[in-house]
Amino acid sequence: MTEHADVRDYDEYRVVEDLGGWRRTHHLSELTVKDLGAQVCLMGWVQFRRDHGGLIFIDLRDREGLTQVVFSPEFGENAHERAHALRSEYVIALKGFVRKRPDGMVNPRMVTGEIEVVVTDWKLLSLSKTPPFEIEDRSGVSEMLKLKYRYLDLRRPALAANFKLRHQAAQFVRSFLSERGFLEVETPMLTKSTPEGARDFLVPSRLNQGEFYALPQSPQLFKQLSMVAGLDRYFQIVKCFRDEDLRADRQPEFTQIDMEMSFVDEKLVMEVAENMIRGLFRATKGVELPDPFPRMTFAEAMRDYGLDKPDIRFGLLLKDVTDVVRGSEFKLFARAELVKAMRVPGGGELSRKEIDELTEFVKIYGAQGLAWIKIKENEWQSPIAKFLSQQERDGLAEILGLEAGDIVFFQAGAPEIVNTALGMVRVRMGERFRLIEEGSFAPVWITDFPLLEYDTEEKRYVARHHPFTSPKPGQLEILNEAPDEALARSYDMVLNGYEIGGGSIRIHTKEAQEAMFQALGIGPEEAQAKFGFLMEALEYGAPPHGGIAFGLDRLIMILCGASSIRDVIAFPKTQKATCLLTEAPSRVSARQLRELGIKVREKAKEE
Ligand code: AMO
Repeated sequence: MTEHADVRDYDEYRVVEDLGGWRRTHHLSELTVKDLGAQVCLMGWVQFRRDHGGLIFIDLRDREGLTQVVFSPEFGENAHERAHALRSEYVIALKGFVRKRPDGMVNPRMVTGEIEVVVTDWKLLSLSKTPPFEIEDRSGVSEMLKLKYRYLDLRRPALAANFKLRHQAAQFVRSFLSERGFLEVETPMLTKSTPEGARDFLVPSRLNQGEFYALPQSPQLFKQLSMVAGLDRYFQIVKCFRDEDLRADRQPEFTQIDMEMSFVDEKLVMEVAENMIRGLFRATKGVELPDPFPRMTFAEAMRDYGLDKPDIRFGLLLKDVTDVVRGSEFKLFARAELVKAMRVPGGGELSRKEIDELTEFVKIYGAQGLAWIKIKENEWQSPIAKFLSQQERDGLAEILGLEAGDIVFFQAGAPEIVNTALGMVRVRMGERFRLIEEGSFAPVWITDFPLLEYDTEEKRYVARHHPFTSPKPGQLEILNEAPDEALARSYDMVLNGYEIGGGSIRIHTKEAQEAMFQALGIGPEEAQAKFGFLMEALEYGAPPHGGIAFGLDRLIMILCGASSIRDVIAFPKTQKATCLLTEAPSRVSARQLRELGIKVREKAKEE
């Protein structure tokens, strides 16, 4: 017997073949006491069925909300009788009239909570198996199961609301930019690699065997070529593909609001970008962001927050105490290139277990451990306190402004590790001590980034943003002697501790681009093979230009207050870059491989 036997066995319970001319009159969040007596036709999914003293109630659900529906023998005997067969997630169409709910049944939390629709006739549009989880906002179901049945999870009104907001945001951006002379131009998906710092996803070519396209990590080079082409202002809401380690705010395919402008400097690009984000928050959330956004240099961000994407909604600034502990008996401090400390007021209440967890946590960022001191009325409690002289204690107390009840965390060692590890502990402490006002938004521009950074794996300098970013005036010359000191004409927009956008003024002469490639250790031949088309274009009158790209998914995640980017992507991938719904990636047939001229190496046995 199938699960549906109870309805299929009876003619009158059959799923209808079509709507029979019925047309939906309202969504399920619309009807209120203003509609009392109206004849309506509704369609949607059965959320709950309750049988009560001869009446059958269901909550009917669609994307917009819920409406209570009543089947009563008084108004449709046949309609009522057949309603006994209704189960969760069946899809129905009904006709009826709106009436006020009896006193005591009013639900003030629902838009439609004062009315109900009494059914006079209805049709069964589709059956449903019992879903693997309840379509409810608070259902404690594993994320794996929800991703496998993503189309069911998306029926949850809270999740659907994220996509409405995403749609509104995209609409806003399109009209904002169109009104300012930006043209929406599509760029190829099957293309050549653009270096944005991640691995490429490659697509084999059947017609050109042994050769591959790369899916774009961003449309960077095409948007620059559009400027050479004289298109003047470009934008696109566009998919980008990066094969990199995934995190809560990263997906292998994600969407950018990508833009580029000709005849501009950084001031103008930042102004347009900032106005767009301010307008977006106003239009979608009614939130007024500061005007102008605060600015911070990269060096200031690293000094005070340890990260280039500071969450400025709370304090707990890091302090450089290297000089204070330079001669310390605690050798780790004495020898370290950099020692930084962070005071957490009230942090003395952290348990030993919490401190141990933090010590494990910083190891993710390459730190060996986490030194700490609890400041008590009469003593400093800490495994390292006994190594600290009175002079060192006084020095720390002064720089950090210590008070009883505080905890101080320290990191000592190489600057990158010290900053990142302590910066991340700061973020954790902000959450732990609830220092962040809920629903608050704090944007900040980060500027004056170093042009290059040293890649310890590849043992060479790489572009911090990308190799097409212009150095600040006069800095091209110092690239070879002092590569660490050159600054870029780039800027990032950071919101609540997330990098939501980044861009730069570009190099627009062939000579400067060649010098940049040289500084990156990319010789003329490699430059020609990879970017010959760009170099050539720069010889045909390239206007000064610059732009920025925003991570749309991240932006929407923050706007929705979601904790994962997956909540704002309709069909997202897992941490392992798989799609549990379609089971991609998957093997392909031997014939497909043959056509592509590809032979797959069998996985080694132990894998
Ligand atoms: P960038 O690499 O900084 O710049 O990317 C721009 C923005 O895209 C978002 N982002 C991501 N979002 C989700 N998942 C990912 N894997 C991911 N990677 C990046 C971030 C980031 O700020 N072509 C340049 C832009 C330019 O110079 O104009 C670029 O792509 O929010």
